[in-house]
Amino acid sequence: MKTIFITGASSGIGQALAHAYAKRYQHKGVSIGLVARRSEHLQQLSAELTKQYQTKCYLYVCDVRNATALNTAAQDFIQQVGAPNIVIANAGVSRGTLTEYQEDIAAFQAVMDINVMGMVHTFQPFIDAMKHARAQGAQAQLVGVASVAGIRGLPGAGAYSASKAAAITYLESLRTEMQHHDIAVTTIAPGYIRTPMTAINTYAMPFLMDVDVFANKFVDAVEKQKRYTVIPWQMGVVAKLLRLIPAALWDRLTKNAPHKSRDIQA
Ligand SMILES: NC(=O)c1ccc[n+]([C@@H]2O[C@H](COP(=O)([O-])OP(=O)(O)OC[C@H]3O[C@@H](n4cnc5c(N)ncnc54)[C@H](OP(=O)(O)O)[C@@H]3O)[C@@H](O)[C@H]2O)c1
Repeated sequence: MKTIFITGASSGIGQALAHAYAKRYQHKGVSIGLVARRSEHLQQLSAELTKQYQTKCYLYVCDVRNATALNTAAQDFIQQVGAPNIVIANAGVSRGTLTEYQEDIAAFQAVMDINVMGMVHTFQPFIDAMKHARAQGAQAQLVGVASVAGIRGLPGAGAYSASKAAAITYLESLRTEMQHHDIAVTTIAPGYIRTPMTAINTYAMPFLMDVDVFANKFVDAVEKQKRYTVIPWQMGVVAKLLRLIPAALWDRLTKNAPHKSRDIQA
């Protein structure tokens, strides 16, 4: 039996991951905890997974900014199915932001709270139970969804780029800490994936990947216990090159680059 806990399961990547895991492990049996704010989306997903793959789903309608709510969800999931084998902190938002506008401060706060603190709130309540389960030989893995947008500061995306850079660094710290407990930590940095988050972008999105293809590659990377991986791999090459560009050249390249509008919330 595989036990998996996924945040941001009501849409896009999280929803596709739930399908991919349910399908991949249907013969072993799989229980999945699904977290998001939109209850009706979770209910529909749960009905599909139960019908198609006989997956046992546990639904938690909560906001990842609420540490107490996530703690309650985690304790319930542990009580129902035991310590999860895999916890995936995927919930996230993207907003166009510009620091020069006072009214954008709330958007900065929301993006940082959801994309960074939401990840901490997701992992924290599981670690103790996973430590004990791992000591008994169970699989124990924490997976965080970052972004290629966290590699360099993108114009018009100060909040999003900063949140994903923070996520990448936070996950690296966590990985070093979890070595003592033999709990694997995997950072997945998606490039452009076809989901509601990117559907509203009006600019070109190189190597745009279908979400179901992405989800299967994600599950493979987690199975291999990769420490850090960019999907699709072509964006991994781009990410490596981005790191090498000197600041002065980066400024010139991005001065007039298209970016997410401040009106858009996704
Ligand atoms: N799509 C891409 O190209 C891409 C690229 C790089 C990184 N990513 C990252 O991948 C993750 C998933 O993105 P996506 O493309 O699948 O976007 P999406 O379709 O907009 O899904 C976002 C998910 O996060 C959940 N969520 C947002 N705020 C939440 C909150 N406060 N509490 C609980 N759940 C919350 C949403 O559920 P509710 O609204 O129902 O709460 C939804 O299930 C995000 O972390 C995103 O930054 C995506």
